[in-house]
Amino acid sequence: MKEKLEAIKAAAVNAVKNAADEKQIEELRVAYLGKKGELTAILKQMGGLSPEERPKMGQLVNEAKSYVEGLVSKKREEIKQKATELKLKAETIDITMPAKKRETGKLHPLNTVLDDMIDIFQSMGFDVLDGPEVETDHYNFECLNVPADHPARDMQDTFYLGENLILRTQTSAAQIRTMETRKPPIRIICPGRVFRADEVDATHSPVFHQIEGLVVDKGITMCDLKGVLEQFAREIYGPDTEVKFRPSFFPFTEPSVEVDVTCSECGGKGCRVCKGSGWIEILGAGMVHPNVLRMCGIDPEVYSGFAFGIGLDRLTTTRYKISDIRLLFENDKRFLEQF
Ligand code: DAH
Repeated sequence: MKEKLEAIKAAAVNAVKNAADEKQIEELRVAYLGKKGELTAILKQMGGLSPEERPKMGQLVNEAKSYVEGLVSKKREEIKQKATELKLKAETIDITMPAKKRETGKLHPLNTVLDDMIDIFQSMGFDVLDGPEVETDHYNFECLNVPADHPARDMQDTFYLGENLILRTQTSAAQIRTMETRKPPIRIICPGRVFRADEVDATHSPVFHQIEGLVVDKGITMCDLKGVLEQFAREIYGPDTEVKFRPSFFPFTEPSVEVDVTCSECGGKGCRVCKGSGWIEILGAGMVHPNVLRMCGIDPEVYSGFAFGIGLDRLTTTRYKISDIRLLFENDKRFLEQF
């Protein structure tokens, strides 16, 4: 029996040594050490032994079992380690390979131009504010000196959401909100979307963008207005740009002006962009009407101010030679990727 045990042990040792993978090692464990394994089976044959021999033999079998068990777990570890090594070798990274290119987002051309404009006005000490797109009649018209029956209401086709609730037709509403909450000196711009029920074509869109500006302090004059807007126009269009102030009318300013700059496309000779005139209109402005100051609780005898509203979309289409304003709002990637 002892020889039989030695033979089984030797066979087990040999087989375990030669096992090639985890599956084989598990099969060997079952074959020798499992419930029906050969080494377990030999224990059951001890019935034929004398009572003195039994414990000795039992000990030998147990020793053999634990020896083989030790070998099995050692071999199992070895096999695992080898597999990991092989895997790592196969997975080495070639750091000379070119990297995968990631798609990055880009600024919308409107935002690029707006960022430039914000830089210019911030460098002149203006704060940048935000205002609501859904406005009340009160802020969009009444306080801007446009009462209900005023003909100037026809200048802007309004989207009504309710009797008094509208989509703002102009960022000028921000002037009123600012004067209600800040005391002079005031120096702010407020960029944002505005809405008008216009016929849609290459130069008109029902949604477009304005930047409102407002300055209120003691002793503000038309010279300040001209200085600030000329500076702005030269920074955005280049130092040689000529700036022209034309008399105009807005209910909330008196006097009112419209500002033209030399056409950046033709340099003033006249072309398709400026419709042959050599000039491009970029903004409306004026001295804040005393009525407006008064309605906001600011004494027009003590304070004066100027305001302006710049169209952002026209500035963007002329700078990038975009032929149709609608392209700015369609979010077609093929268009946007060009900037
Ligand atoms: N709100 C005017 C418009 O939409 C633009 C404008 C003109 C704004 C004169 C002003 C201003 O603040 O003083 O046509």
